[in-house]
Amino acid sequence: MTEILSMPTTPFDGQKPGTSGLRKKVKVFQQPGYAENFIQSVFDVVEKGEAATLVLGGDGRFHNRTVIQQAIRMAAANGYARVLVGQGGILSTPAASHVIRKYKASGGLVLSASHNPGGPDEDFGIKYNIANGGPAPEGVTGAIHARTQEIDRWLTIAAQDVDLDTVGIVEVGDMNVQIIDPVADYADLMEELFDFAAIRKVVASGFTMRFDAMSAVTGPYAKEILEGRLGFAQGTVVNGTPLEDFGGHHPDPNLIHAKELYDLMMGEGAPDLGAASDGDGDRNLIIGRGRFITPSDSLAMLAANIECAPAYKGRLTGIARSMPTSAAADRVAEALGVPAFETPTGWKFFGNLLDAGMATICGEESAGTGSDHVREKDGLWAVLLWLNILAVRDISVDDLAKAHWARFGRNYYARHDYEGIEKEGADALMAALMDELEALPGQEFGDLVVEEADSFSYTDPVDGSVSANQGIRILFVGGSRVVFRLSGTGTAGATLRVYLENYVPPSGDLDAETGEMLKGQIAAAEAVAGIARFTGRTAPDVIT
Ligand code: G6P
Ligand code: ZN
Repeated sequence: MTEILSMPTTPFDGQKPGTSGLRKKVKVFQQPGYAENFIQSVFDVVEKGEAATLVLGGDGRFHNRTVIQQAIRMAAANGYARVLVGQGGILSTPAASHVIRKYKASGGLVLSASHNPGGPDEDFGIKYNIANGGPAPEGVTGAIHARTQEIDRWLTIAAQDVDLDTVGIVEVGDMNVQIIDPVADYADLMEELFDFAAIRKVVASGFTMRFDAMSAVTGPYAKEILEGRLGFAQGTVVNGTPLEDFGGHHPDPNLIHAKELYDLMMGEGAPDLGAASDGDGDRNLIIGRGRFITPSDSLAMLAANIECAPAYKGRLTGIARSMPTSAAADRVAEALGVPAFETPTGWKFFGNLLDAGMATICGEESAGTGSDHVREKDGLWAVLLWLNILAVRDISVDDLAKAHWARFGRNYYARHDYEGIEKEGADALMAALMDELEALPGQEFGDLVVEEADSFSYTDPVDGSVSANQGIRILFVGGSRVVFRLSGTGTAGATLRVYLENYVPPSGDLDAETGEMLKGQIAAAEAVAGIARFTGRTAPDVIT
């Protein structure tokens, strides 16, 4: 038996996992004992069972390899029988979810700060996923946080660093460490889900695309699947090598940070499809030639056409979206005769619905789309489903969007972000809104009449758990809406998100400028919430 070393420690403040794990600056994680305290707290509270397997991997950002080596030694000291590590320390978030499920691991540590920048002065993160492959639910993250506040030792063993770059098996203490190909299992799964033959055929007859991996984790996955298995030309995947600092960019696939892709898609000679994914590979951006598809619309359009993909034929049971995501998907669910679910922000809330078979496809306005194939949102999966649909229907993105709106109507949608504002001001704004709620129904803002206003509370239909205070909804007569929420993923100050939505029925103007169509909602948001008064800002920092 290898000797277990018990290292005395004291708690660090603020090790509370947010929407998606513990995210802090690298410098914070570099403090002696900081990562160890958190990882030990995870190991102390999660269910492991006999001869447990742990999955370990990350998006390759700065500090990834250091924490992986720490976690391997600690896993050995904490009684794991086996650790599966992606080669080079790489596993995209959806691939990690798949590997956890496929190899029946008791859970996994996913090292990522998602779309936040990477590098010595930037962000790092650790998230724990449970045996179903999904992010730990609030009961578990709460227990982890409680444990971090009383921890007095962490366990490790004396062992050399493992060579992370060579696929194979090594022993660390009494534990088996398997360095696995991070791409193969995931690529095989995608091939099972989608009609690769149909996609290959349109590629061979001239269908083109560009995939921007943003120097983040999806590069190797996209190269293998798009260029390797589907036959797209070499060079289809750009920024395809994962870099520790993502080349100094924000690996966030939106119109600001993927501007080059956007400009390409709006210009002369654009390929048929433009797509991108984020730091850890769970978000996606879809742009057709001359047509950006909002994440909310993407969910609705994918759901409406999901029958085109072999693995989903005849098995759509329900569609789930997070509350701030537009209601476009609800209209599809209604037309298809399946239930629509509205959950709080955060992918973890979809886990129970997926496990129970109540929902098949889920999506969020924050550029996440996915299905029951794993328990995370999945950037490349969304891109492949789009490809599958376009190939089978032999249609362009723009024509598909137009046909969709002509049938269901269009939910014009935008999100306004006020970043790095003072927490006091942000909290005061939300508190003032809460106080106003009861008086709002019936009030008029320009042409808009408030029908209902509430603080969103969710009762999970599977386990009955209640999540209250998940954002403030102001619903107007006619189906338009304004939602206010504070971000749960920031690492500095507070970020106010204002979600704006205007529903236009099929008989209305379906191809107008989004900004124009949301003017009334923007004015109403300011009038209701006093954004300028509470934040000192007269315009959002980011509009997506
Ligand atoms: C992460 C989660 C998503 C969630 C998003 C919300 O990306 O994985 O499920 O939608 O955070 O971020 P926010 O900053 O709005 O809390
Ligand atoms: Zn992400």
